[in-house]
Amino acid sequence: MKKIIVANWKMNPLTEREAVRIARAEDKNNVVIVPPFPFLGAVRGVLKNASLGAQDAFFEEKGAYTGEVSSAMLKKFGVRYAIVGHSERRRLGESDEMIAKKAKAGVDAGLKVILCVGEPMDIRRRGRNAAGAFIRKQLSRVKRSKSLIVAYEPIWAIGTGKNADPEEAAYVADVIRKMLHVPVLYGGSTNSRNAKSFLEKKEITGLLVGGASIDPKEFKKMAVIARDI
Ligand code: 13P
Repeated sequence: MKKIIVANWKMNPLTEREAVRIARAEDKNNVVIVPPFPFLGAVRGVLKNASLGAQDAFFEEKGAYTGEVSSAMLKKFGVRYAIVGHSERRRLGESDEMIAKKAKAGVDAGLKVILCVGEPMDIRRRGRNAAGAFIRKQLSRVKRSKSLIVAYEPIWAIGTGKNADPEEAAYVADVIRKMLHVPVLYGGSTNSRNAKSFLEKKEITGLLVGGASIDPKEFKKMAVIARDI
């Protein structure tokens, strides 16, 4: 499988104008751009090569769920990917059960689902076996699917400048692949300097990029590394 780079812009940028500017610059093959909801339409309008993704998707199709957006709506809107279970959402109270439901609904609606997992620092300190067990538990309710991708994002590596050791990330990716037979992305403080060290691992199919994804210069370098590997 070709390596992919996913740009999770999180709650950035502030304006549609800026979103369009960044999207134009990052519009490459093997790239998925995941803007905030209000900018999905504008970004969709400028992408010619990259795919469009959403940062979350609810498990019900439609109805009285104020503030939620369904996978079916997103699919009909032209979105191809949905991230579910990001640690920034788990921190707000999402459970493994809820995330598994979101993943299933996304797959059923025809989206490619990027389900995020990752251990906190106190688990990582106990070593790779403890981390692997923690991840397996996070995935215990998740059903295998050809449309599923898992992103391994250790919580302590997100936005901290402290990326995981690529060997350790590859180990966890292997645990996930053995369990679900799905592609695995790595995320957590990736940039153009460390991208290659993750992308060259056969267990790692791509990167889920946060901070560096709203810096088009930096992100484009990462996309080139992924393309050429
Ligand atoms: P950073 O790349 O900013 O560490 O964020 C990673 C992430 O959470 C992507 O989903």
